[in-house]
Order: sequence, then structure tokens, then C-alpha cells
Amino acid sequence: MNEPIPLARPELGPREEELLLEVVRSGSLSLGPELEQFERDFGAWLGGGYAVAVSSGTAALHLGVRALGWGQGDEVITSPFSFVATANSILYEGATPVFCDIDPVTFNIDPAAAAAAVTEATAGLLPVHIFGYPADLPALAAIADQRGLGILEDAAQALGAVDRMGRRIGTAGNITIFAFYANKQMTTGEGGALVTPDREIAERVRSERNQGRAPDMGQVEHDRLGFNYRLSDLQAAIGIAQVERIGELLNTRDNVAALYRERLTQLGAEPAGEEDEDDLVLPCENSGDERRSWFVFVVQLPAGTDRDAVISKLAEKGIASKAYLPCIHLLPPYQERFGFRGGEFPIAERVADRSLALPFFTSMSESQVDRVCTALAEALGNRA
Ligand SMILES: Cc1ncc(COP(=O)(O)O)c(C=O)c1O
Repeated sequence: MNEPIPLARPELGPREEELLLEVVRSGSLSLGPELEQFERDFGAWLGGGYAVAVSSGTAALHLGVRALGWGQGDEVITSPFSFVATANSILYEGATPVFCDIDPVTFNIDPAAAAAAVTEATAGLLPVHIFGYPADLPALAAIADQRGLGILEDAAQALGAVDRMGRRIGTAGNITIFAFYANKQMTTGEGGALVTPDREIAERVRSERNQGRAPDMGQVEHDRLGFNYRLSDLQAAIGIAQVERIGELLNTRDNVAALYRERLTQLGAEPAGEEDEDDLVLPCENSGDERRSWFVFVVQLPAGTDRDAVISKLAEKGIASKAYLPCIHLLPPYQERFGFRGGEFPIAERVADRSLALPFFTSMSESQVDRVCTALAEALGNRA
């Protein structure tokens, strides 16, 4: 068998090793200079705002929900088509996630559906830039402005994406979170960041990630409820090296995605928005000034395809793939708690049923992309 092709693989090199080793030798493993430098470098690369590094994207979401004051009795409108952490973060503070259906082309929340979901209890919006494609921020901001709602952007998958106003995601003036797990565009192993234009929010989040302790306080002084959501300096060191070459990482990922698009088109795949039911469908292309940041390469299988059989056939050839991702409202904890049964969000459910994530990583070679595309066409009976 050919060498296995994993779903994702981090891109780490000598610079990551060098900076990591420096931290190991320094003996200063937490709340040291690397953490501060990583936050400065990341914020500067993003192009605005205060960046607070934390232990995961989930931790960043949780602190973002707290910063916006969402809690008991509040409804927060979000997407059912996201990773479970998005909605979980709303539950952590006792608020209620209110799902609304998604756009059939971008897979991000449909602003009209979001507007229709607003009630007296709505406190905010939690849009997700799913699969790295920017959500329609101007339309969501218009809904939020009408009612004075807060916005928390989940950009865990969208580092480097650009919205329709030409702004890099994370710089539109909302609290935005990023995630640095090892499958992301850049990684710290585990890690995340919250970015905000508001200095007071940044200070509060810095304190809450560190057990409710302001930077000038001693180790057992605490002036608010906090958590241990710290990112270690070992992780921050890897992050510094990754930020140094983030432009290159993102460009290379663009190239891998372009290769996939070209090969799958040759095999009969159709562009999003122009497909028939029995087509293999590509991820949507950039519209106007919007730019996707490539996190995963997810195709829609022809309707009625036995997806598990496709996954098995690819696996037989050493190729990883995954049904990605399931709708949050149909996961057992959400079904049990809120009584969802299916059919509530038909577009999200249809997309979730047909989605397949193919191997996608920065160092993926042309021949690996070819192997995946050929195997996929074969698994589909060459009917893509
Ligand atoms: C959309 C989304 N939100 C939040 C998270 C949570 O990030 P983490 O795994 O770093 O906690 C992820 C992780 O993949 C994600 O995809």
C-alpha cells in the first residue's frame, strides 16, 4: 500500500525546535516572556486589537461569552453547523444557544434566519466562520446594531480569512476567538486566543485565564472568579515561530486547495451553488472581496451516497477522511436537553449528511492530492 495520507498534519520545522529549546533551557515555562511576545506578534500580524492567548479555542470562547455578559435567561443566536465547542460555550454560562439555519453555499449562518430568530431574550450573536469561509459580518452587524446585541466571532477555523469589507477576520471590532490545535492553519499544539479592540476586556480576560489575578497581583491574590486557561511558554514559543511564517503557510494551503479544485473539477465535481442533487460539490469559491482561509477541504457527496462506504474505500487505500461535521442540535446532549428531533434546520442537516472532509495540510504534495482525488472518484463509482 502507498504511504498513508492523514487528514491533517502540523507544519513544524527547525525554527519551532529552536524557540522551544530556548524556553526549555530558560526554565521559565509559564507566564514568561514568550507568552507576551506571542500575544504581541499575533496581534500585530492580525493588524489590530489586543490578543490574549489562552489554553484552547474553547477557553477563548468561554471567556468571550463571559466578557459579553451572556448568562441565565439570555439567548444567543448561533449556527447548528459548527464544532460542538461553539454552542457549549454558551451553555457554560447558563445562556441558551438558539440555532438558525445556514446558507446553502457558504454554510455560515443565514442572516435572514438569524434575524427571524431574534426574540426579547436575545442577548447576542455567535457567528462561526465555518471551514474558514467568512460569515456575512455586515448583515449580522446590522441585526446586532438594531437591538444593541453583542457579537462574538468564532474564527477557530478562519485564521487569515478576509470579510466582504476587506477586513481580516478578527479586526471588525467584535470579540473574536481563534484556535491553535494541531490541525489548524497555525498551531501551538493546544491553544487559542481572544482578540478584542477593548483594553478593559483584554485585561479582564487576562485575569480570568489566570485564576482571576491581575498581572500586578501575587500568586494567591484574586479579585474575581477565574480559571486556569493559561497557554504555557512552550506552546507560545511554537506560536511565535508559526506567526513568523503564517503568510507562507496560508499561501501554501491556498495552493493545495487550488490543486484539489482543479483535479476534482476534471473528475466532474461541480462548483457550489450550481450543482444538481447527484453531483459531487466543491467548497464555495471566494465571492467579491471575501477570502477563505483554508482549514479543511470538505466536499459534498452526491445525494444518497453511502458515505461510510466511501470512507472505508478510501481507508483501504491508506487515505483518511471524515464525516465532518455533524449538526450540533442533533448531538445527544442537545437532543436530550432541548428535544431536537431533526428537520428543524433542513439546510444544515442536509449539508451535514453529505459532507466529507478530505486530507488537507500545508505540506500536502501534488501526488497526494492526485491519489485522494482518484480514490474518491473510484469510491463514487466514477460518477462524480
Ligand atoms: C469552530 C470551532 N470552534 C471552536 C473550536 C474549539 O477549539 P479548541 O479545540 O482549541 O478548543 C474548534 C476546534 O476545532 C472549532 O472548529
